[in-house]
Amino acid sequence: MRIVETKRELREALAPARREERTIGLVPTMGYLHDGHVALIEAARSDCDVVVMSLFVNPAQFGPGEDLESYPRDRDRDVAIAEASGVDLVYAPSVEEAYPPGFATSVEVEELTEVLCGAPGRRGPEHFRGVTTIVAKLFNAIDPDAAYFGQKDAQQAVVIRRMVADLDFPIRIEVRPTVREADGLAMSSRNAHLSPADRERAPALHRALSAAAASALPGGAVDDALAAARAELAESGVEAEYLEARDAEDLSPIESFNGRPALIAVAARVGDTRLIDNVVVEPAAPQPERQERR
Ligand code: PAJ
Repeated sequence: MRIVETKRELREALAPARREERTIGLVPTMGYLHDGHVALIEAARSDCDVVVMSLFVNPAQFGPGEDLESYPRDRDRDVAIAEASGVDLVYAPSVEEAYPPGFATSVEVEELTEVLCGAPGRRGPEHFRGVTTIVAKLFNAIDPDAAYFGQKDAQQAVVIRRMVADLDFPIRIEVRPTVREADGLAMSSRNAHLSPADRERAPALHRALSAAAASALPGGAVDDALAAARAELAESGVEAEYLEARDAEDLSPIESFNGRPALIAVAARVGDTRLIDNVVVEPAAPQPERQERR
């Protein structure tokens, strides 16, 4: 495995693969890798000839009061996990390399970034502007055939699909299922910040979403499903920043389960840590989650 820190080295490292028309898979990350990241790397490994992982805590997607400074970082550990998981090339630029002096361009997806985490008073559309700007830059610098994202960040995946369609990036976007801890908590680099007591409460998000999914009936009211979720959160003393059901593809509001996939998404602060999670339900079809259980 090779590690490069500049766009120039990146281009040189990928030149032979390009000449030989080998396929390139990209896994963008901010590091502090966990099994959710590893699942994306393994998917890229099985689909593509060359696997590139980017490792960059992107300041542009953090707001003024957010956790840029305290975001967990451990480069040596990340490099070891990346290598063991089958990454061929790590691109780990400095902030200066990614955003040289005078940098003044951004990529903004409208509307989809103004709801859920992007609504006023939450992270806001500026967060997604930071994400789409860095991801567009990575797409240009690496020119992958496919790029891998996690369903954990459902809105991010929808926004990136929109950007790729709108800006004609010839890149296949693969979205992989959320990887969870044994008690249901969605893996996240930020889980490292949870105190032992908060770690105990954190699975309430997943329990709430499971309760909502179990209450989601074909044609049934969204409010009923969300009430079931709210009851679970209340039991653990977790207050949601938002808990909403929306169309899973275009994030438009829905009032009933109408046969199209519905995204039920939650964000909540547990202690000082802001957690997000979601589930997609399709109540018109038999529920695959339930079928899997005996
Ligand atoms: P980061 O939070 O490091 O996540 C990198 C990728 O891993 C994202 O696509 C995210 O959705 C996915 N991921 C995180 N937790 C997961 C889990 N439990 N199961 C499955 N996939 C999971 O998301 C970002 O970084 C940044 O916004 C980035 C896209 C790299 C742009 O800076």
